[in-house]
Amino acid sequence: MTEQRGNWSSSAGFILAATGSAIGLGNLWKFPFITWENNGGAFVLVYLICIVAVGLPIMMAELLIGRKTQKSAVGALKEAVGPAWGVVGLWGVLCGFILLSYYTVIAGWSLFYFAKTLGWTMGGFPTNLQTGALFGEQSSNAGLQLGLSLAFSIATVSVVYFGVQKGIERIARLFLPILFGILILLLISALGMSGSGEALRFIFRPNFAELEPSGILEALGHSFFTLSLGMGAMITYGSYIERSQSIVKASAIIVVLDTAIALVATVIMFSVVAAAPEQKEEVGKSTVGMLFISLPQLFYTEVPFGAVLGPLFYVLVALAALTSTMSLLEVVASYVIDEHGIDRAKATLMCGSTVFVFTIFAALSFSDVPILSTMHIFGEGANAKLGWFATADHFVSNWMLPTGGFAITLAAGWFMTRAATEGELGDETAPAWFNYGAWRFFIRFVAPIAVGAIIIAVILGVDFA
Ligand code: PHE
Repeated sequence: MTEQRGNWSSSAGFILAATGSAIGLGNLWKFPFITWENNGGAFVLVYLICIVAVGLPIMMAELLIGRKTQKSAVGALKEAVGPAWGVVGLWGVLCGFILLSYYTVIAGWSLFYFAKTLGWTMGGFPTNLQTGALFGEQSSNAGLQLGLSLAFSIATVSVVYFGVQKGIERIARLFLPILFGILILLLISALGMSGSGEALRFIFRPNFAELEPSGILEALGHSFFTLSLGMGAMITYGSYIERSQSIVKASAIIVVLDTAIALVATVIMFSVVAAAPEQKEEVGKSTVGMLFISLPQLFYTEVPFGAVLGPLFYVLVALAALTSTMSLLEVVASYVIDEHGIDRAKATLMCGSTVFVFTIFAALSFSDVPILSTMHIFGEGANAKLGWFATADHFVSNWMLPTGGFAITLAAGWFMTRAATEGELGDETAPAWFNYGAWRFFIRFVAPIAVGAIIIAVILGVDFA
């Protein structure tokens, strides 16, 4: 069984794949929206602190558990910490399963908007078009939603099917440079716009009077989501690292790149939106307002070279989403491969199609399908999470990732021996700046206390979805 496991071909291949997992809809869809909602500056600063104080140490912990055991989430936790810890791995696999099932739906929207914007670039932006109405029409069109999410699921399965090196690593190597290139073009264009000064001030000038306590928790929760932590994705990717590759260096690069991309994407979007004050209301109304309602139009009315950059932007969203969905499917598939001895081809197809059954529920959440569009478990009043999609997203972001992350901090900080973790992190591959004692302090105290605070806040009913 183990001799069939893949390996990354090089350190760069691994870093690109893991960075691809981290960079996704979290950076392009969630982060700009929650930064907007939480009034920028101070929220961004708190988010950066969470990334360094909680995200980075947990990233190292997950990768070390993977590299040490060379097993996927369930097997790795069992071997590194103890048999009972397989449950935490299973929790992660379940989390990956649910997250993938609805993530694909938003990823599908990027395909729709790519096709639409390409059409506008060729034929001109329709003068009377209401992009809000367009969004409503596409998201409530059941057939279209099923088609888009099916297309995206097939793309994901096709990558994972070919394995670690020939599938995941190859696609990450190809797509990440394209993604960076598109983002740089967009940034240059956005910085030339009149709104860029306002955007930069909003994002980088902290005003703590504007930050509510719920914003602190939201920043912490998002640091898990955006770095793909708390559910074993990084354990799984770490299990394909060779012992000669440094976990510490890789973690630092992944975290820096993911953070940089989230900030750059936010600068781009806010610069564009600042150019059109009448759009601001739309942007604040819902999580999709900026990405799928305001931006499509602004590319054609405000952005320099927007007719070219518009379609490219949705290519960027699709590529970022795909390099994340493939890591989610890999968590589920590698569990089936490693723990149940099923071969990769069969495991991938089986897991991919089972997940798709649940994607159907998520895809139909925006149509008038009883229960799927109206079910209600979380939130009250204006904060109610209505429908399957919102319920699944709330459950994953607010319950599953924080609890999984908490368990991983305990595993690495308190249940594994000092020798075991030091042997992985403090070995000859560690860079000179790394201080094992500092990592141990963060993973034993800072991270679990911070994450424990989120969980308690969730239980007390603070909403940070
Ligand atoms: N990090 C991804 C994003 O920001 C989401 C993700 C979470 C992917 C967990 C894999 C595992 O979009």
